[in-house]
Order: sequence, then structure tokens, then C-alpha cells
Amino acid sequence: MLSIDNITLDFVKYLFFFTKKAKNKEQIINLKGKILCNLFFESSTRTMLSFQTAMYRLGGEVINFNKDYSSLNKGETFSDTLKTMEHYADVFVLRHPKKDFIYQASEIIKKPIINAGNGDGEHPTQALLDLFTIFSYFDIFDYKKSFNILFIGDIKHSRTIHSLIKLIIKLFKNIHITLLPYCSELYPDNDLIKLIEEHQKSVTIINDYSNLQEYDILYFTRLQKERLEEKLNKNIVYNFDIQFSKKHLENIKENAIILHPLPRNEELSTDIDNDNRCKYFEQVENGVYIRMAILRSIFS
Ligand code: NCD
Repeated sequence: MLSIDNITLDFVKYLFFFTKKAKNKEQIINLKGKILCNLFFESSTRTMLSFQTAMYRLGGEVINFNKDYSSLNKGETFSDTLKTMEHYADVFVLRHPKKDFIYQASEIIKKPIINAGNGDGEHPTQALLDLFTIFSYFDIFDYKKSFNILFIGDIKHSRTIHSLIKLIIKLFKNIHITLLPYCSELYPDNDLIKLIEEHQKSVTIINDYSNLQEYDILYFTRLQKERLEEKLNKNIVYNFDIQFSKKHLENIKENAIILHPLPRNEELSTDIDNDNRCKYFEQVENGVYIRMAILRSIFS
């Protein structure tokens, strides 16, 4: 699973079927004897550890590559590192700051590779768990109904936004997308705008939190500081006060849901965490079950 590009509606339905079963604590497959290797060249808390939890819950084993203690420090090439790792595991979970590295890796490792984030490119498994969380509250497969989603934050660099938008565009004509970047430097690239324009008549970009009543789903992201040039990072000025807090809750729908892939920075105040519309820790929980279902799809 390298990108959203080869994910189909049937696959998503299959995945959600087994995700629900895993959530109900039913056994969906036994992976005894199988080994998953986490290959993370960039920081991670949730993605890496939820894959690890998912593999253990299915009876499999996990090995973790640690770049700081690896022979990369002795001058070994990435290619030799990957050729070595290929012999140690049955499935690989890869995160790397360079967008193309995953495609190069997939030429070298001839076993299943799951993209756990390729730079500012994509993060398909996060998009699937986001969509599963949305599906838990809204009947999105009923194409007679329609839904509004607002993406807030670093639209330009957020790979979780990129993958979720691609997934929505691919499968859900009935979900309408609106964008709220924190400032002009974080506007999406033209390619993404074009994609959204093909999906719906036009792309609306709103400017602040003053008019949020029409959205069913509010999807927040932090500023991806590590992907900005240092100069821009120091000088970034937001168009509005980006902290969404208790006072904003009265301006959103009673049955809206608030999502965030986490980690959060200042954009989501912790004073809203107990509001039952906030589902970001439910996303964390669903992350384990969706990854169990993904592993099932690979090994069955
Ligand atoms: C995201 C990521 O790494 O892209 N985190 C995650 O996987 N849950 C979001 C982020 O880093 O902002």
C-alpha cells in the first residue's frame, strides 16, 4: 500500500468490515510466525506503535529498525540497508522524509510495503482510519446523502490531508470539500486544487472560524514546521488566531465531529477535549483496528 491511487471502493468496504470485527474483539486472522518490520526514518508515535500493537494483537512479531543505531552511521547505503532488511521480515512499514524514497524502496524490497508517510506526499493508512472514524458517525456510503468536510491548517504540507482528500475524491461524490489554510504560504499546490475542482464545481477557501455551521466534519492539522524552510518558519504569520477553543464550539453543528491526526500544537485547545464532538483519540483507537484489517488483507 504505497498510495491512495490503487485503493478501490470494494477494498475500503472489505477493510471496514474487518476493522469493525477487530474492534468487536473478534479474531480476524492469526499471524503467528509472521514478522513486521518498522522502518522509520522520521519521528512517529502513533503510526509506528499502532502497527506494532496491531501485529502483536494478531499473534505476529515485530522488529524495529533504528536509524540512529544502524550501519547507516558507518556509511552503509540505503540500498544495502534495505536489501538486508528484506531478509528479516514479511511485511514492511516505511516512513521517510523524501517523497520518492518509498517508490525506490519498493524496487528493492520485493515484499509488501506499507507507506507510513512519505514526506509531504501521502499517508494512506491514516486516511483510511480517518475515513473509518467519519463512517462511524455518517452514512457516507449512502450516496443520496451529502456531507461537508472542512480541512483546516497546513493544507500544503499535510500528507494526511492529501491522502484523505484523494480518497474522498476517488470514492465519494457526496462529500463536499472546503479548505481553511492558516495563511497563504499553506495554500494547496495547483495539482490538489485541480483534483478538487474535478470533483466538485469549485474550491471554496474560507478565512477564519467565523462561519462553521455548515460543516459535518472539521479536520484540523498542525503546521508542519519540519517541512518549511527555516526562514519561512521563523516569519510565518497566520491570517487569524488559529487556536480553536471552547468559545468556538457553539458555532459548529450539534452533530459535527472534530478530527485531528495528531500530534496537535496550539491549533486545538485542550479545553475542548471533553466535548463529545472531539474524536481525535477515537481516531487513535481506530488506528489499531484499521491496521489489523490492513495486515489481514496482506496475509490472506
Ligand atoms: C501525522 C503524520 O505523521 O503525517 N501524524 C500521524 O501519523 N498520525 C500528522 C503530523 O505529523 O502532523
